[in-house]
Amino acid sequence: MTSLPSIRRATPNDAEACHEVMWTAVTDLGTRRGTPLVGSVAEWWASGESLQRFLADRAAEWWVAEEDSRIVGYGRSIERAGLFELTEFFVLPTSQSKGVGRALLAKAFPSRRGLIRSIIATTDERALGRYYAAGTIPRFPFLTLSRAPRSEEGRSSLTPHPIGIDNASELRALREIELATLESARGEAEIRWLLDDREGFLYTRSDEPIGFAFVGNHGVGPIAALDPADLPDILLHVEDRATSLGLQQIEFQLPAPNEVAARHLLSRGFRIDPWVNLLMSDRPFGRFDRVMGFGPPLFL
Ligand SMILES: CC(C)(COP(=O)(O)OP(=O)(O)OC[C@H]1O[C@@H](n2cnc3c(N)ncnc32)[C@H](O)[C@@H]1OP(=O)(O)O)[C@@H](O)C(=O)NCCC(=O)NCCS
Repeated sequence: MTSLPSIRRATPNDAEACHEVMWTAVTDLGTRRGTPLVGSVAEWWASGESLQRFLADRAAEWWVAEEDSRIVGYGRSIERAGLFELTEFFVLPTSQSKGVGRALLAKAFPSRRGLIRSIIATTDERALGRYYAAGTIPRFPFLTLSRAPRSEEGRSSLTPHPIGIDNASELRALREIELATLESARGEAEIRWLLDDREGFLYTRSDEPIGFAFVGNHGVGPIAALDPADLPDILLHVEDRATSLGLQQIEFQLPAPNEVAARHLLSRGFRIDPWVNLLMSDRPFGRFDRVMGFGPPLFL
């Protein structure tokens, strides 16, 4: 009988090796599913390094499986105000289905941690089996909708304000919208990182905050509106910013129950990516008819 690779806590020095494990496992899954993914590991690292460094810095749990000094799998989670999210869970194809994932998940997503336990899950059957065992169930599909951004001239009743990291009232408004829509709010360190990585906007009508959005070269989201009816105007502004930033492609992470955003984007020619994820959690939470996730889809 062969023994399991050893499991240890990760360190920031493991960031690039873990990223390579993710790229290998995800592209392998894409090929097996007939939905091949584009981009080399170096290209993914170039656009994802900032996110990987942030996760390395802010992880609640981050564990690697190592065999002959080589990382063959890892699991990582983040926690904010009661929301405990598994962000990544990957094992190299040659080491899959041998119990490595089971050992990693027990460490990276320990039971009884978090008031809400949530995962944006692939449909890999091993992952789904493990996530059921971890007490979560699929709530709804999480779709990616994309196309080249287009600017639209038009009147909007909303006023976008670039969020300033030192503007206490804007940060408070952002936090209140998150609490009202997601039941949990990002802390200052995460907002600081988000604003380093992308532009952030608070939207007001008659000086009342009604929503927010983030958009940049490395991705779009999170986005939320107190009233779903405001999403089309917010999404038009995000598309407009993406055009100004010179982005060739814009991708939205759409919870399937968000019908207002879905109909708006589909009517504007956005296409649903064949790769569909699932939002899994240990209990229903949040108002996902008015929320869009962080992209790339590692966490909400
Ligand atoms: C998901 C992943 C990390 C799991 O790691 P792993 O080492 O392969 O997992 P394990 O061998 O520990 O566990 C696999 C489990 O799936 C079960 N399983 C396998 N095929 C299954 C099926 N068709 N239906 C139900 N369960 C199945 C196995 O029985 C095993 O459970 P058990 O230990 O209770 O018997 C790994 O397979 C992987 O990297 N997949 C591709 C990337 C991916 O989709 N990651 C998830 C990101 S959200």
